[in-house]
Amino acid sequence: MSDLDRRVCIAPMMGWTNRHARYFHRQISRNVVVYSEMLAPEAIILGRKDRYIHYHPEEHPVAFQLGGHQPKVLAAAAKELQRVGYDEINFNVGCPSKKGKIQPFGAHLMKQPALVARCLAAMGEAVDIPVTIKTRIGVDEQEGYQPLADFVGQVKESGCKVFIIHARKAWLDGLSTPRANREVPPLHYDYVYRLKREFPELTVILNGGVTEWIEAREHLRHVDGVMVGRRAYKEPYWLAEVDREIFGAAEPKPSPPEILRRCLDYVQQELESGTHLRDMVRHMVGLYRNAPAAAAFRRHIAMEGNPHGADLSVFLGAIRIADRLSRPGSAMLQSQT
Ligand SMILES: Cc1cc2nc3c(=O)[nH]c(=O)nc-3n(C[C@H](O)[C@H](O)[C@H](O)COP(=O)(O)O)c2cc1C
Repeated sequence: MSDLDRRVCIAPMMGWTNRHARYFHRQISRNVVVYSEMLAPEAIILGRKDRYIHYHPEEHPVAFQLGGHQPKVLAAAAKELQRVGYDEINFNVGCPSKKGKIQPFGAHLMKQPALVARCLAAMGEAVDIPVTIKTRIGVDEQEGYQPLADFVGQVKESGCKVFIIHARKAWLDGLSTPRANREVPPLHYDYVYRLKREFPELTVILNGGVTEWIEAREHLRHVDGVMVGRRAYKEPYWLAEVDREIFGAAEPKPSPPEILRRCLDYVQQELESGTHLRDMVRHMVGLYRNAPAAAAFRRHIAMEGNPHGADLSVFLGAIRIADRLSRPGSAMLQSQT
């Protein structure tokens, strides 16, 4: 069992939490555990793996999420991920994608706990880092707390000790999109609390709908950790409070321009190695939350940062705008804080 401090994690989000976003988030919080987007293990074993698994050493602690259903293939991918230095492998048993019907993965696997346990056990035998699971409270006709407890009771026999629970069920047949499955089924935090009470030996992390640190603190009275997704991505400056609010850090939170300055060398190096500026700055557009600061910053990033060939001068321009917005007495700053 690892001693990773998972009190607050940033959720895996496909298309969002790639390495550029994770590096940016790490400049805002030194403590949160960051998660990759989900990837099929075949992409790591057979594909252009460097492209998919490359990360920056500053991202630690960083977990990689796999989605699949073949124990041997998952184990081989997990081994490679450990070799390159990831801190944790997370197994996705929560994605409601319709594709999961053809080649089972994600939430579809909640109906096959024995297979989930085999996948986790195979990965657990292949690596020394923790192998964890992210799942739902149930799928389709599964109602109430008991299906979750039965699932966890079976799956923990694999040796998996960390359960991240998205506290709503997934409708695999009824709801048309993964997005609807993040919004429509009601949240049941009480099930997640009860799981921790009944399985005190497990590390239980609650996910879904957490948008304030005061809520996170309340959850942490009942469970071991909280995973935050959409708010952290859309309003990354919210994360600037977490080190003080939850991890007890003494340093003041970094200002937006300071966060951007921390990214400067990274952006320069990535540009030199051929990354487009827009692929990095698109994760930063939400740094300012309220108009007019948000509008001025976003306009610069969207208009100047988007064209092919946008260079470091555009990023330096974004820092200059941020400096101006943060100057004492700036009307724009007042709307940010
Ligand atoms: C754009 C997007 C992509 C997502 N991709 C994944 C994914 O790859 N793996 C996963 O386990 N969950 C994924 N999720 C679900 C989140 O990890 C999280 O469970 C969900 O957003 C609920 O947390 P929140 O209410 O704090 O956002 C995704 C969510 C969003 C918004």
